[in-house]
Amino acid sequence: MTTITRQQAYDLLNKYVKGDNYLTHSYAVEAIMRGLAKRLAPEEEEFWAVCGLLHDLDEETAPWRDDFATHGPVSVEILRKEGFNIPVLENAIMAHNPICGKNPETTLEYALIAADPMSGFVKAVAQIYPDKKLASVKKKSITKRFKEARFAAGANRQYMMLIEKTGISWDEFVDISLQSMLEIADEIGL
Ligand SMILES: [Fe+2]
Repeated sequence: MTTITRQQAYDLLNKYVKGDNYLTHSYAVEAIMRGLAKRLAPEEEEFWAVCGLLHDLDEETAPWRDDFATHGPVSVEILRKEGFNIPVLENAIMAHNPICGKNPETTLEYALIAADPMSGFVKAVAQIYPDKKLASVKKKSITKRFKEARFAAGANRQYMMLIEKTGISWDEFVDISLQSMLEIADEIGL
C-alpha cells in the first residue's frame, strides 16, 4: 500500500511497541506533528500525525543500543514487511535519526526531528512542578530550561532548533508543542 490511515498506524505501533513510555512518547510526538501541520501543511495533518506516531516504530525491535544507526532503517523494514511502501514516511522516519545516514531536508523532516526531542523536553519541564502537570508549565520556563545545558541533557538542542528551517520560530514552536500536548494530557499521563 502506498497510503496509511491514522488507525492503521496506531494498530501497527501497538503491535510492535508495548512499553508505556514509548507509546506515550509516540502519542506526544504525534500531537506536536499535528499542531505543526495545522500551521505548515493543513491538508497533510493526518499524514504528519502518522509520521509522528510511527517515528520510533522499531524502538523495541532494532538493536539500537548496540548500533544506533539501526534506529530508523528497522522501522522502514517493518513498514515494508507489513505491506506499506510510502517513501515520504520512510524518509521522515530515517531523517529523525541522521546517524542512520539520512539528513533532514524537507519541511516535514525538519518538523519531525525537532518535535521528537521537544516532546521529551516539555515532559521534563512538567515534571519539575509539584503536580507534574502540563497545565502548570509556562512557555517561558521551557525557554529558560532550554538554555540550561544540563537540564534534560538527553534532549538534543540542535535537533530542536531545526524547527527554524520550517519557518516556525522557537517561540511559536514552544507554543504549538505545549498546546498540542495539553490537548492529550490525560492520554499521556501529564
Ligand atoms: Fe522519538
